[in-house]
Amino acid sequence: MVKQKILCVGGAGFIGSHMSHKLANSDNYSVAQADIWSAKLKIRFENKPFAFHHIDISSDDDELSALVADHDIIFNLASKASPRLYVQDPLAVAKLNLFDGSKVIDACVKHRKKLVHFSTSEVYGKALGSTEPFSEDLSNCVTGPIRNHRWIYSTTKQLLDRMIFAHGRQSGLKFTIVRPFNVVGPLIDHVMVGPDDGAPRVFSYFMSALMNGEPLRLVDGGKALRTFIHVDDLVNALIAILDNPAKSNGEIFNIGTPQNEIRIADLATLMRDIFAANFEMSSVRSDIVTVDGQEFYGEGFEDTERRMPNIDKIKGLGWTPRIMLKDLLEDTMRYTWENRHRLTQEAMDAME
Ligand code: NAD
Ligand code: UGA
Repeated sequence: MVKQKILCVGGAGFIGSHMSHKLANSDNYSVAQADIWSAKLKIRFENKPFAFHHIDISSDDDELSALVADHDIIFNLASKASPRLYVQDPLAVAKLNLFDGSKVIDACVKHRKKLVHFSTSEVYGKALGSTEPFSEDLSNCVTGPIRNHRWIYSTTKQLLDRMIFAHGRQSGLKFTIVRPFNVVGPLIDHVMVGPDDGAPRVFSYFMSALMNGEPLRLVDGGKALRTFIHVDDLVNALIAILDNPAKSNGEIFNIGTPQNEIRIADLATLMRDIFAANFEMSSVRSDIVTVDGQEFYGEGFEDTERRMPNIDKIKGLGWTPRIMLKDLLEDTMRYTWENRHRLTQEAMDAME
């Protein structure tokens, strides 16, 4: 059987490196990556080869178009996906998400290639007091005022979803949109060497603080709720989508683990308990403190109170999430602890 050729644009990041590794062992698919760095692929593949193309989608238009033409299915993962960046560099977030992301869509339309696009749970915006889980085809996408520019990620991702949907209608684009809900696993973000080192997501803030003996900081008391999914479960959902082209074409899928809902304040306590039981090197125990959201992220921050996925559609492809919260955290914390020296941003940059 001839393998289908997959190109992962932005495929050297956290999710892309796991998906690439899984697909590299597939009988049905081959995989290549287009990205601006490759350190996480080098770590994930250990010393085995992978098919990497150094492509910057903001400038390498001809190279991107030629690569898309040479593959069957294009995954678009390129993004800046951290709330601190939405607040501190909103123009760069919008440029990459929307304007550079549009180039990937346009190349798929031009060369008539199937697109699997990474949207986000953030497009649903605020829960606004609703207790209903977010549904792909029914829920409203509601964000805050313009001056709270945190929503620039949500709204540019939403506009790209709408462009893709419109191309499906008007240009015959074959597509699937996926909306992950807070993915965690080995290789997420980076290990921080101090409390303000870079812009990771909550797992990396808390794990780095534990390893550095610093306080875990709860934004506005840590009252927000999130559901966390293990990256291995997410990758299996992507395989289910690939294996079911007829059912997934033209559809949007939430991918999350509803059972893994936790309040952020409770996540901090749980991670501190797991760390103390397994990895602590001394009797130093990190404090848990509250910080103001505007001070922590910057002016223009606003939070989503609750983010619960309805996953009925993706379960219709025969997939179900398997990894529960404690195992998810123990696995990711163990990997991060054991690899802590090579997962700092400086160490990964030095691998390039
Ligand atoms: P990531 O930051 O680890 O990976 C993004 C990749 O895009 C990086 O490797 C980066 O180098 C690449 N990239 C950035 N600019 C580029 C450019 N100009 N040209 C080529 N490549 C470029 O992020 P991730 O966590 O792996 O997320 C992947 C996708 O999934 C993103 O689109 C994100 O919005 C979406 N998503 C992630 C989560 C999550 O919890 N991780 C949740 C919802 C949605
Ligand atoms: C994230 C990012 O926007 C994207 O990675 C992704 O698209 C989206 O989730 C998603 O999964 O769909 P968010 O969950 O708000 O958004 O970001 P996190 O950094 O994971 O923060 C989760 C919660 O923890 C927020 O309430 C945040 O304020 C809080 N937090 C974060 C803390 O209390 N302390 C910290 O040190 C960091």
